[in-house]
Amino acid sequence: MPALNPRLVTFAAGGSGPWRVTQLTAVCGPALPWADRLTMSATPPPSDALWVLRGATSHQRYTTATEQDALAARQVAPGRAAARCAALIPIRKSADWWALPQDRRREIFEERSHHTRLGLAYLPAIARRLHHCRDLSTAEPFDFLTWFDFAPDDAAAFDALLAALRATEEWRYVEHEVDIRLIRD
Ligand code: HEM
Repeated sequence: MPALNPRLVTFAAGGSGPWRVTQLTAVCGPALPWADRLTMSATPPPSDALWVLRGATSHQRYTTATEQDALAARQVAPGRAAARCAALIPIRKSADWWALPQDRRREIFEERSHHTRLGLAYLPAIARRLHHCRDLSTAEPFDFLTWFDFAPDDAAAFDALLAALRATEEWRYVEHEVDIRLIRD
């Protein structure tokens, strides 16, 4: 699959697309309707889509220069041939989170939940791309669409990272989360 380096990305679920849905679980809040396949693209969604989510890549909000350097040294872009497994995890955070000032959010995110530090240990096996939806004009149901891909052998490591993150203080502010697992046939 060619590397995608987009700003606005559309995730369309339906009967067609390169990714086959293997699991769709509501972690908290309502699930999304089941669909067999998913397409991720920078172009308009197929007309047979059952549901469509949109997000845009953006600048970093919370990372320090040292963290950005550490990320840049280790991270790889999604789309590697060996990365046949993927996860799309749409997330919405609560009004309490968004009411916090930036420095308090950073404290929770990194100083107390160690999000970046935890995640760095899983690079480059896990490739990630964060899409923001909150400021789009399309009234998106989530704040973030998180996308990850990895080789089948790294699926257990990915689950361990997710379990660690979901146990953090940051995740107390997550009020809607759906975990969608995919495989490229
Ligand atoms: C944000 C790193 C895995 C969910 C971020 C940010 C970094 C990061 C640096 C902050 C971006 C910014 O400054 O704006 C990592 C690394 C991971 C990883 C290195 C290793 C694979 C995960 C996983 C999830 C996740 C497994 C679970 C779905 C999120 C969310 C945000 C985020 C929702 C946005 C938080 C917010 O802006 O409030 N991640 N992450 N990340 N990550 Fe991760």
